[in-house]
Amino acid sequence: MKIHDTAAQAYAVASEAYERGRPSYPGEAVACVVDELGVGPSTTVVDLAAGTGKLTRLLVPTGARVVAVEPVTAMRTTLVAVVPGVDVVAGTAEALPLAPESVHAVTAAQAFHWFDRGEALAEIARVLGPNGGLAMLWNQRDESVPWVARLNDLMQWRTQPIPQYVDGLDWAESVAAVDAFTPLHHRQFANPHELDVESLVDRVRSTSYIANWPEPRQATLVDQVRHLVAGFPERFTLPHHTDVFWCHRR
Ligand SMILES: C[S@@+](CC[C@H](N)C(=O)[O-])C[C@H]1O[C@@H](n2cnc3c(N)ncnc32)[C@H](O)[C@@H]1O
Repeated sequence: MKIHDTAAQAYAVASEAYERGRPSYPGEAVACVVDELGVGPSTTVVDLAAGTGKLTRLLVPTGARVVAVEPVTAMRTTLVAVVPGVDVVAGTAEALPLAPESVHAVTAAQAFHWFDRGEALAEIARVLGPNGGLAMLWNQRDESVPWVARLNDLMQWRTQPIPQYVDGLDWAESVAAVDAFTPLHHRQFANPHELDVESLVDRVRSTSYIANWPEPRQATLVDQVRHLVAGFPERFTLPHHTDVFWCHRR
């Protein structure tokens, strides 16, 4: 099962920090996905690249059959422990372990940037039934807030030679290039993430390329992050917005 080396190595060691430190998705964003994709009882939704199940668990209350697909064993282990009641299978976006036209909806949260876009979109089109829906979600830290911009600088967020989510039109272009989907829609939702210093440290340490740094380099960054938020209240908010994109199979 081949995925990007940075993701394979990082998520093999950082699944617990990921679960503790990463933000969830806002109710309005999940409602948008559920409504636009028609997820509910008697439907099957596949949460692709499910990780520790941050989105998966929010799909369970819809009454749909929820199938989580995730290639990294450690992420699946955490997912199984924290999200009961879903089918969890090993697989990648480029080779989905699913039959043709077997599902109503596919979601991919904080993940599509890791995929080979063309191969993944072709696979998703293969497993979706007619008019089946695809939703892609991403959380982005709100860099208009000065301390968040400083955090991103400390994390060297903008200068990594790895796939990253970039907002803009290229996602719509990627979907249009496959010719199997309707045009991509987009909505954005506020997503304030309330946390404490330790969960902020987990957030930083679970960042793919940082989880792969040698421990002394991670420790130096953690010291800088602790210093950045030293005067903050015990619990504070790391502001995000959540981008939701969706389309349907033609
Ligand atoms: C940032 S995590 C997102 C996890 C989860 N969806 C969430 O919202 O928290 C990215 C996930 O994508 C998975 N991944 C990376 N490359 C993949 C691929 N080619 N196919 C399927 N999953 C992949 C990783 O193993 C990891 O669990």
